[in-house]
Amino acid sequence: MIAFPRTALATELVAALQGKALLGDAHNGLFLTAPRRTGKSTFLLGDLRPALQAEGVIVVYVDLWADTRRDPGGLIAEAIARALEPQLGVVARTARKAGLDKVKLGGLEVDTSKIGKIDGLTLVDALRLLHENAGKPVALIIDEAQHALTSEAGEAAMTALKSARDQLNQPGVVNLMLVMSGSDRDKLLRLVNTAGAPFYGSQIQRMPPLGPDFIAHVAGLIEAQRPELRPVDQALLQQAFEVFGHRPQFFMAALGQVLSPLAALSGRFEPALLEAAQHQQAEDEAQMESDYLGLKPTEQAVLWRMLEQGPRFRPYDAEALRFYREKTAHPVNTAQAQRALEALRQRMPALVWKSARGEYALEDAAMHRWFEKRSEAGQWPPTPPQGMLALEDD
Ligand SMILES: Nc1ncnc2c1ncn2[C@@H]1O[C@H](COP(=O)(O)OP(=O)(O)O)[C@@H](O)[C@H]1O
Ligand SMILES: [Mg+2]
Repeated sequence: MIAFPRTALATELVAALQGKALLGDAHNGLFLTAPRRTGKSTFLLGDLRPALQAEGVIVVYVDLWADTRRDPGGLIAEAIARALEPQLGVVARTARKAGLDKVKLGGLEVDTSKIGKIDGLTLVDALRLLHENAGKPVALIIDEAQHALTSEAGEAAMTALKSARDQLNQPGVVNLMLVMSGSDRDKLLRLVNTAGAPFYGSQIQRMPPLGPDFIAHVAGLIEAQRPELRPVDQALLQQAFEVFGHRPQFFMAALGQVLSPLAALSGRFEPALLEAAQHQQAEDEAQMESDYLGLKPTEQAVLWRMLEQGPRFRPYDAEALRFYREKTAHPVNTAQAQRALEALRQRMPALVWKSARGEYALEDAAMHRWFEKRSEAGQWPPTPPQGMLALEDD
C-alpha cells in the first residue's frame, strides 16, 4: 500500500515551525515522540518534508538510527554538508580543488576542509552558509534524535544546533527550524528537561497515531476491491489497529492474510483480524517474558527497578541497592549493579540504553506497558515454567 498521506498534520506543523501558530514554541524546536513503527519516519519524509519544501524551505533530513555504528555527531554534520554541497557552487569547489582552504561565501569565511567535520563551530557556520546562500529558511529534521545523546560528539552537535538556532533566528523571523523525533519520550526528554540540556525549556509533543481517517481509507480500499464485503466494520478494524499498537505494517500484513483467498475463513474477516492482533500482542509479551527469564538474578533486579522507577531510575543510590538486595536475596554492590547494567546493554538486542552522561533507560519503552499490565494483573514478576532452571549470578 502507498503510505496514507497525513496532509493536515503536516500543514499544522509547518505553520507552527514558521512561528505562525497562535500558541506553542515550535519555532524554537519541535520535539515529536511516538512508539516505534507507528509511522514517524514515513510522516517526516513523506508528508512534512514536501510540505516544508512547498513553503520554500530547504530541508535536511538525517536518521540517527540509519547506521548505529556511526557517530551521531558525524551523521548530522554529514547531512548538512551534503545539503550544502550543491549550494557551495563553483567557487568553493574550485577553491577546494585548487587547494585553497579558505573561501569567502555570503560574507562568511569558510574553511572548505572543515565543512562536515564534527566541530560545533563549523556546524553553526555550515547552517548559516546554507541559509544565506540559498536565501531561504532551513529545516533540519533529526529522526531518532535521542540517539545523539549516546556520544559526546552527538551531544556537542546538539548544543551547536541550539546555538545555530539562537544566532539565525530573531523574533518574528525563523531561519532555522529544528525538528527532532524519537521513539521514546523519556529519552527525548533528556534533550529538554534539565538545566544543562541543549534545549532546556522546550516541550515534547506526542505525535498522534494514524487515526479513523486512515481506517476509513483502508476500509474504502477493501470495499472497492471486494464489493461483497460491504459494509466493512470500521469500529472493529480500529480496535484491531489499536491492539496492533497502531503499527500500520503489522495491521496491513494481517489484513492481507485474513483477506487472502487462502485464509479459508467461514465468517467475516474483521473478527479474524482482531484475533490476529491479539495473537501478535501475546507473542510480543511472550518474547519479553522469555528475555526477562533468561537474565541472571542481579540483571533481573536491575531491570525490575528500571521498569518500576521509569525516568526516576538511579542505578546506585542506597534505595536501589536495597531493592537489588531484597530481590536477589544477596547483597549487591555498585560494581555488581554496574556489571549487570552493562550486560543488559551489551545483549543483542540490547535491553538498556545509556547516554554519554551515564544515564540509563530501557531500550524499548513497550516493556513499561508490559510491566504495568502484568503488575495490575498481579502477575509480576514472571516465574520460570516448571522444569526450567533459573540462572545464577557469577
Ligand atoms: N501513513 C502510512 N500509511 C501506511 N503505512 C504506513 C504509514 N506510515 C507508516 N506506515 C508503515 O509502517 C511502517 C513503519 O513506519 P515508520 O515510519 O518506519 O515508523 P517509525 O519511524 O515510527 O518507526 C512502514 O514501513 C510502513 O509500512
Ligand atoms: Mg523511524
